[in-house]
Amino acid sequence: MGIGYNHKSAAYMNPGSRPYITLVLAMSADGKIADRGRSPARFGSEADRAHLEQCIAEADGVMFGAGTVRAYGTTLPVRNPVLLEQRQQRQLSPQPVHIVCSRSGQLDPGLRFFQQPVPRWLLTTPIGATSWAEGDAFEHILTVPEQDGRLNWTIALPNLRDAGLHRLVLGGGGELVAALLAVDAIDELWLTVCPLLLGGTQAPSPVDGAGFPAALAPRLELISSEAIGQEVFLHYRLRRE
Ligand SMILES: NC(=O)c1ccc[n+]([C@@H]2O[C@H](COP(=O)([O-])OP(=O)(O)OC[C@H]3O[C@@H](n4cnc5c(N)ncnc54)[C@H](OP(=O)(O)O)[C@@H]3O)[C@@H](O)[C@H]2O)c1
Repeated sequence: MGIGYNHKSAAYMNPGSRPYITLVLAMSADGKIADRGRSPARFGSEADRAHLEQCIAEADGVMFGAGTVRAYGTTLPVRNPVLLEQRQQRQLSPQPVHIVCSRSGQLDPGLRFFQQPVPRWLLTTPIGATSWAEGDAFEHILTVPEQDGRLNWTIALPNLRDAGLHRLVLGGGGELVAALLAVDAIDELWLTVCPLLLGGTQAPSPVDGAGFPAALAPRLELISSEAIGQEVFLHYRLRRE
């Protein structure tokens, strides 16, 4: 049996009590977000990178799983002067906050991520927070209890909203996406279909975890589709009753 997805279950969260979350991912034409070695996904075009930067520039924060930071070692700061100017006009900080979700808190402090000019937050458990209590690697450490071995999202997400994060970009990976879908906390998806086939039963996909029985699978509504060069940009919203 897969992870439950039921609007009537206790997992359902009132969208007004949490940030509005937009998932942005690039995937191969066979639906993989990285190769079987889980190497950083750098197969998107310059148009895809610019699209991700634009989504990030429109958000208050970017959230990703610890596995994604371990794979890439970096995040994507806003660099485009037009986008920086737009943020200034909207009286936003130059960079949105970059939030790493990690149960364990085990991250290599030598990753280049920790040198990048972005505000870093850690969303973790009390145990995960212990290794970061000293030092200034993270501007803010948000500690929430575990529930069934995962972060308790019904506490974590309202806390993020209360901290001023109303619009979040979710940057993956598949494990974190599955956890947030299970509590019905994703509102929109941007999927860039890239012209390659990665294959591999172990290669990550946009939604990993245990999966959903078809009858309970989250349903999507297509907002737009656009081909740019060899890629297709798909924009969906989650359908809610
Ligand atoms: N193509 C793309 O656009 C794209 C984007 C992002 C990532 N990727 C690829 O995706 C792969 C990484 O994805 P992944 O699924 O392995 O990792 P992930 O979802 O990025 O990270 C998994 C880790 O995040 C933490 N985590 C996730 N869900 C949690 C929860 N509910 N509660 C507490 N902690 C939670 C845990 O960290 P701890 O282990 O520290 O507890 C877990 O081990 C990489 O290969 C990367 O290249 C591709």
